[in-house]
Amino acid sequence: MTTARAHTNIALIKYWGKRDAALMLPYTSSVSLTLADFYTDTTVVFDPALPADTFTLADQVRPTTKVTPFLDLVRAQAGLTTRARVRSVNHVPTAAGLASSASAYAALALAASRAAGLTLDAQALSRLARRGSGSATRSLFGGLSVWHRGHDDATSFAEALPATTLPLRMVVVLVNAGPKPVSSRALMANTVATSPYYPAWVTHNEAAAAAMIQALAANDFPAIGHLTEQSAMQMHAAIMAADPAFTYFEPETLTVWQTVQALRAQGVPAYATMDAGPNVKILTLAPHVDAVQAALLPRFAGRLMTTAPGPAAHILEDQ
Ligand code: DP6
Repeated sequence: MTTARAHTNIALIKYWGKRDAALMLPYTSSVSLTLADFYTDTTVVFDPALPADTFTLADQVRPTTKVTPFLDLVRAQAGLTTRARVRSVNHVPTAAGLASSASAYAALALAASRAAGLTLDAQALSRLARRGSGSATRSLFGGLSVWHRGHDDATSFAEALPATTLPLRMVVVLVNAGPKPVSSRALMANTVATSPYYPAWVTHNEAAAAAMIQALAANDFPAIGHLTEQSAMQMHAAIMAADPAFTYFEPETLTVWQTVQALRAQGVPAYATMDAGPNVKILTLAPHVDAVQAALLPRFAGRLMTTAPGPAAHILEDQ
């Protein structure tokens, strides 16, 4: 029985689109920040008495439609046929665009591989997590990480980037904590298939990933923030231009973006990003968290969460 914890991550340079849906190979590299306060704990036990895999999320029985194919990958690597009991608890608002699938599959990859008797290195774990959810590839690592798009299963993995000396903070604004109206996986595929802006997104985003790695190495916060906003907005532009047209933006999403722009005009270093949902995440530096929160408080009291870079995925219990 093994319990693992993995923290979620927010992409500064986004992943949006698979060039191989079976192997989960992305069109572009992406760069992310793993967060301290949002994580998933997952316990896996392989039990010869079980006729089938079982899965509970927060003690509720859930379908194993996604879990079983993932466990099959682990079983194939370990030479096992035994079924498993999987218990997960999300300390992330599920399906609220806070990328809970990232922490979920990173925790499952670590717990299941260890429970199956495998000792995978970080790269192998990252490749395994990728098969569950693209963003999970990056959640094995603490702080900043890059997912290299690679060209095949062996070369598409994430790795940690050198730590920055910047005191990065992320203020999460919950515009709408409900489940997302459209799954990111389906929308991602439709963006690739139908958005005339998609090829431009690929070109720009791959260049932005390289530029972001340089900006991080230089501790150049204005460049980091600028690239972060560009990647998010360009992803959402490609989504809006798909057929059928769609957007995750809600009226309050735009209110937050405008507040961030106003803060910058006043000299506060703050930059917005958003994922497959209406919530906005604001990248700033520790000394400016109070100013960011103060600007948002009148409208978003009780809906603000501030977090710092979080640790790598780790084992909590192994017996
Ligand atoms: C907008 O990783 O949830 O959060 O690979 O289909 O499981 P699948 O998608 P997922 O998509 C994440 C998209 C994003 C950007 C990002 O995290 O890079």
